[in-house]
Amino acid sequence: MTRTVAIVGATGAVGRELRRLLAERDLPADEIRLVASERSAGTELTVRGEQVTVRALSDPDVFEGVDLALFSAGGGRSKEYAPQAVDAGALVVDNSSAWRLDPQVPLVVTEVNAGVLDQRPPRGIVANPNCTTMVAMLPLKALHDAFGLTGFTATSFQAAGGAGQKGIDELMTQARELIDDPELLRSDGAAAAKRVSHEVHAAPLAFNVVPKMGEVDERGYTDEEMKLQNESRKILGIADLPVTPTCVRVPVVVGHAIQVRATFSREVTASAALEVLEAFPNLLTDELPTPLEWAGRSETVVGRVRDDLVDPQALNLWVTGDNLLKGAALNTLQIAEELIARGHA
Ligand code: A2P
Repeated sequence: MTRTVAIVGATGAVGRELRRLLAERDLPADEIRLVASERSAGTELTVRGEQVTVRALSDPDVFEGVDLALFSAGGGRSKEYAPQAVDAGALVVDNSSAWRLDPQVPLVVTEVNAGVLDQRPPRGIVANPNCTTMVAMLPLKALHDAFGLTGFTATSFQAAGGAGQKGIDELMTQARELIDDPELLRSDGAAAAKRVSHEVHAAPLAFNVVPKMGEVDERGYTDEEMKLQNESRKILGIADLPVTPTCVRVPVVVGHAIQVRATFSREVTASAALEVLEAFPNLLTDELPTPLEWAGRSETVVGRVRDDLVDPQALNLWVTGDNLLKGAALNTLQIAEELIARGHA
């Protein structure tokens, strides 16, 4: 059997990682089809050492003969085109938020709940979680299995790259504009903020932190924060899990970090927690894992594991992971591998 794999959004930040990982992980595919917007159609990109011409998503034949389509081109494109890919005979792994909460669509972190893929995905679509949720899932699953998770409070420190290449570009442009004027940054931050423009992030991000991603709901929580609650519940299979999320954008290029305070049904100590964390697949521990130093690594890493100061059934920990790798491209490919291993694609 020959297998054709399409990357939709091949020119984007996640698409670039997907192309690189496809070569590295040796996914069994005879043809890799690269798909992006009409702007990019006709350009040549390298994948597995070969030049491939990018095709437009709007091309009516673009999914003909495709067995697996890996979508990373934004929610709007996924909503519209994933069903078209399925109709053309492909299984879709979608990296956007479009399908994640659909009860007919499995939402998968491979180390946590790959078992839900034993059954062929009923709509032909599997969803990849939000990159921040992803970083939290490995340690929380490890700790849940050992101590019984009853809730968590999470404050994220999310990289500009979580908003794609345009998020990185906006940060770098602002940083270049302001780097040589420390006096202005020190004495008149408002003037410094006015000097740069911003469209992707909710406020100027260089030399700043921005505690808002997406729209704010009637209770004051952002889209990004509600993803952390809703996706965590679905992935861990705990329907009413109490989650208190605060999501913050920080001027890091790639690499999300999250401070988590988790509570459990049993008593927990930092040393007992470290033991279960270290035994979990693709999860490492380190004294001080910073996003910069862990960017480009495929593992999720936990540090600063501390007993809670008041509650023997609570634990504080710091988690870091590359939002473009495990947070997006790597987990997408791992899902593709699980689908192939089960004979679905
Ligand atoms: P293009 O480069 O042709 O615009 P990022 O998340 O880094 O911003 O990347 C977004 C990806 O989604 C890019 O590959 C981009 O392609 C693709 N994309 C954006 N808009 C469309 C569209 N309307 N149709 C198809 N692909 C799109």
